[in-house]
Parts: sequence; structure tokens; C-alpha cells
Amino acid sequence: MMKTGILAVAIAAMMFNVIAYAGDDITVYKSATCGCCNKWINHLEQNGFKVKGVDVDNVIPYKIKYGLTPRLASCHTAVIEGYTIEGHVPAKDIRRLLKEKPDLIGLSVPQMPVGTPGMEQGNRKDPYQVIGWDKNRKESVFTDYQKY
Ligand code: CU
Ligand code: CU
Repeated sequence: MMKTGILAVAIAAMMFNVIAYAGDDITVYKSATCGCCNKWINHLEQNGFKVKGVDVDNVIPYKIKYGLTPRLASCHTAVIEGYTIEGHVPAKDIRRLLKEKPDLIGLSVPQMPVGTPGMEQGNRKDPYQVIGWDKNRKESVFTDYQKY
């Protein structure tokens, strides 16, 4: 009985996401062997995004193409509605980006901090920031997860 109830809620939540966010297509360029990339993709799908994962031999040309600087680089590079999403950016920050539509090239969580979506290691959560950058390569803090 209890289990059935939880399942029903889970299915309802999934359906809600699909209905509410249909059309949120995001393309993720990653290496085929990247496990944390797949975990991040799962995180996005659980939050209603429709994800197209593209395995590439070399991710660097995609980082250059989509306007990244070396300092901002992480494992995967994703593209949604003209914005670049680099690394383990939480789904809610992507939602906010798409809602507010700031004059940015995109958002990045540089490197791969432990505790970001797809980089879970038990209860460990390292402080990190979601960084936005514009066409002049000027960086700004989009979200600060120092104190979460
Ligand atoms: Cu990663
Ligand atoms: Cu990745």
C-alpha cells in the first residue's frame, strides 16, 4: 500500500515534468566514457529536460565553438536555446537562465566540484559557484553555493 502510494506520486511527478517542460531540448557533447556526464544527464531528465547526448572523440573543439575559456572548462559542453552550459550546472540554474534570459554566452561550473549534480559522493558537498560569462569574456557569479 505504502509502496504503491509512493510510486503513484513519483509517476505523477514525472508526468508533470514532461507536460510542464516539453520542448526543453538540450544537447550534451561528451566523451563516451564519461560516467559523471551520464549522471548529470540523468539529473536533467529527472528535472524535465529532454536530453540529446552526443558522444564525441574530442570535446575541446566544442568548448571552443561554444565560447568557453580554459578557466571555465569542465567535462561536458551542452547547448540549449543558444546558451552554453558547461559542466555540472544544476537544472534549476538552467531554468532560471531560460526564464531571465540574461545577456550571457552561458553558465559554467568549472572543473568538477564534489556534490554538484552528477558528482555526488555520499554527503560531501564542496562549495562552488555557477559562473556566467558574456561575449567579452567578463565573468559574473550567477549562483553561489558556498553555504548550501
Ligand atoms: Cu563531470
Ligand atoms: Cu560531464
